[in-house]
Amino acid sequence: MDELLKGFVFDLDGIITDTAKYHYAAWKRVAQDELGITINPAVNEHLKGVSRMDSLNVILKFGHKENAYTDTEKAEFASEKNDLYKSLIQQMTPDDILPGIADFLKAITAKGYPMALASASRNAPFIIDRLQLAEYFSAIVDPATLTKGKPDPEIFERAADLIHLPYAETVGIEDAVAGIEGIQAAGMFAVGVGSPDVLGKADLLFPDTAHLNLAQIETAFNAARK
Ligand code: BG6
Ligand code: MG
Repeated sequence: MDELLKGFVFDLDGIITDTAKYHYAAWKRVAQDELGITINPAVNEHLKGVSRMDSLNVILKFGHKENAYTDTEKAEFASEKNDLYKSLIQQMTPDDILPGIADFLKAITAKGYPMALASASRNAPFIIDRLQLAEYFSAIVDPATLTKGKPDPEIFERAADLIHLPYAETVGIEDAVAGIEGIQAAGMFAVGVGSPDVLGKADLLFPDTAHLNLAQIETAFNAARK
């Protein structure tokens, strides 16, 4: 039987708003001041979609210091990064919603599709609130309740479970390689936002958020599920 599109699971950072620059700024400072490691934009690509502690581990590995600190010290560095990050996101407003996203969310809602947020960020509820987008999301996954991070499908499966969507009838939207992999591992249809060099595996790819188009997604989903 043909599967029908029933709803959406969304990434936050890099899809709904550009918080990647704040995560990067905060990690850059902690890496430099506390770890003596200078990170660059290439390293930052590997921090996208990855949990706070996993991000610290990526940075430590990059600096060849993966065994240099105790778990307690690492927890302190992660906490320091989060304090810096939180100070940067305090002033966010609806003006920080990425281009096209407000209309895209409205179009999805108008057609009656439910949406859930599948962000690895523990700060996601705060950010959604600052952006005044809470009304669009029927559920927000609490990443503290997960056992594995992206690219594991767990976060996307949990998001779909929360709004009672069968995975094969769910579309996931992501800007990170780990996210596209997780969506597909869950058996969902993966919509990527970014360049083909990075997100070539997506089932449908848009160059940026301004190009996200619900009708195109419905057409591509139906063609793939026939
Ligand atoms: C993801 C970001 O959404 O959330 C990652 O892409 C970040 O860069 C992760 O590390 C965890 O965020 P937080 O806010 O819980 O530290
Ligand atoms: Mg993202």
